[in-house]
Amino acid sequence: MYRLLRNFLFLFSPEWVHYFSMNSLRLLCRLGVRKILRSMFVPKENVPSEVLGLRFPNKVGLGAGFDKNARYLRELECLGFGAVEIGTVTPLPQAGNDKPRLFRLPKDKALINRMGFNNEGVEVVRERLKKWKIEREN
Ligand SMILES: Cc1cc2nc3c(=O)[nH]c(=O)nc-3n(C[C@H](O)[C@H](O)[C@H](O)COP(=O)(O)O)c2cc1C
Repeated sequence: MYRLLRNFLFLFSPEWVHYFSMNSLRLLCRLGVRKILRSMFVPKENVPSEVLGLRFPNKVGLGAGFDKNARYLRELECLGFGAVEIGTVTPLPQAGNDKPRLFRLPKDKALINRMGFNNEGVEVVRERLKKWKIEREN
């Protein structure tokens, strides 16, 4: 199944597939699959940890570059991550390098990433994080 899906997704550009996958995950969550995903991916035995006064539900975090603009925090939480490092966020929005700028190396099971720090800028991301925090607290 995974192989079939991967072969299909590899017909499209890696950057398009990144956003398509995350938006599909968001849609699934909105359609009520959130609980099922959480039960599949969130570790049954979370081992909380504290680093520099910050508390994390588990020790698996996602590095920066995947969710540059903090758009998919709820979806990434459903996949079980105990932390998401957003960004890189720059003081002003920037478009990054011209496309194509993300390249698959299928034989090496790797990607070359020359995105050029495309992001919506600190003001937009700050507002999004504020909203997310309020939503979480309610
Ligand atoms: C502060 C900071 C900002 C980063 N920003 C980006 C980024 O915008 N894009 C990116 O591809 N990687 C970025 N990285 C690097 C990734 O988070 C990650 O370290 C890198 O992909 C290597 O992953 P690995 O250590 O799991 O191999 C950043 C790392 C740090 C510490």
